[in-house]
Amino acid sequence: MDDAFMRSVSDADPDIHQVLIKELKRGKEGLEMIASENYTSKAVMEVTGSVLTNKYSEGYPGKRYYSGNEFVDIAENLAIERAKQLFNAEYVNVQPHSGSTANMEAYFALLELGDPILAMSLDHGGLLTHGHFVNFSGKFYKFSHYAVDEQTHYLDMDTVRKHALEVKPKLIVAGFSAYPRELDFKAFREIADEVGALLMADIAHIAGLVAGGEHPNPFPHAHVVTTTTHKTLRGPRGAIIMAHEEFGKKLNSAVFPGMQGGPLDHVVAAKAVAFKEALEPEFKNYARQTRLNASALAESLMEHGAKISTDGTDNHLVLMDISPYGMGGKVAESVLDKVGIFTNKNMIPFDTRSPFDPSGIRIGTPALTTRGLGTLEMREIGELIVKTLQNHENEQQLASVRDQVLAMCSNYPFYPGLNY
Ligand SMILES: Cc1ncc(COP(=O)(O)O)c(C=O)c1O
Repeated sequence: MDDAFMRSVSDADPDIHQVLIKELKRGKEGLEMIASENYTSKAVMEVTGSVLTNKYSEGYPGKRYYSGNEFVDIAENLAIERAKQLFNAEYVNVQPHSGSTANMEAYFALLELGDPILAMSLDHGGLLTHGHFVNFSGKFYKFSHYAVDEQTHYLDMDTVRKHALEVKPKLIVAGFSAYPRELDFKAFREIADEVGALLMADIAHIAGLVAGGEHPNPFPHAHVVTTTTHKTLRGPRGAIIMAHEEFGKKLNSAVFPGMQGGPLDHVVAAKAVAFKEALEPEFKNYARQTRLNASALAESLMEHGAKISTDGTDNHLVLMDISPYGMGGKVAESVLDKVGIFTNKNMIPFDTRSPFDPSGIRIGTPALTTRGLGTLEMREIGELIVKTLQNHENEQQLASVRDQVLAMCSNYPFYPGLNY
């Protein structure tokens, strides 16, 4: 390998080097509150950018289509065993490239094309791979969607049951991307049993809370559980599928060769590292603080007059109705971005606006909790969010909020020692 091959990105590609520098600065000088994002540990990042990116290892540990997988097998087996321990799962597949892929693989393993599925409505906290018409899921399967209660915005399990009795799904999906309350997996399973359906939990958002003991575990109630690894769980981008042992063979085949080729071995190994970190006692504190921070944020927002879906939160996210400020989610997201508070526009239940400019924003605490911020800061951020939205056309006020954000950020080191 010659010198040119061994250059760092600063020499090899100054354009991409600048992207890294600017992204690091953006992170350092902003408050990351996108509920589906988090910061990985240095160790997870190190392994994601490691020599394992070079390997091909189609198949499963001990049964590969390529030679030279003796070390990759160690990593994949560690990831599997740790995930089993973390979630009390009988079977785990750590190869899915993403949450969407994991959901697709689970559907392919459990169902025939065109089968009926019951899942949460997209504008009530559901998501694309839970049957949206623009997504493969909505095209390949016959989805019906359950909704939250119009007054309380809570899921009402009696309503879900009635819906299930009507549509007789083969699969019920319990999971969300924007529901701020606890899911009752036991009640979902009772409904599934009553209508002869399987239960799949998609815990992508709450996996870290489940791992840290801050949200009930979907096992043993769910037959199959999918999750991304990069949200509250704080691992590399990717996903896993877990299940009762009896579904293992079908799920393995659906992942490989059904859907994927070679696994991303660098990511699989980084998942193993993240699971080890999540098994450590400090992760329980992290999960707890993530929830406490979300509650403090919700309280502060409400004290400053904000309208919050369900009047609070049980988990890591808050869903805020921004219509009282005379704007749509698109403007809200961009004005908050301008002051350095990163959120995302989001539908609220029974939203009358379009998903491209909905009536809400979703605000989450996983990343800032990793960075070390606590409830005091969350209270201050709640005030800053309201101040920003109320004064969205007042440049002077926005500049003052930006200064407060920068001051807060400077108190919390961001990847200290990481330089590009
Ligand atoms: C609950 C849930 N499942 C699956 C996904 C899809 O994950 P990915 O973006 O890795 O495809 C998301 C995305 O945010 C999600 O919120």
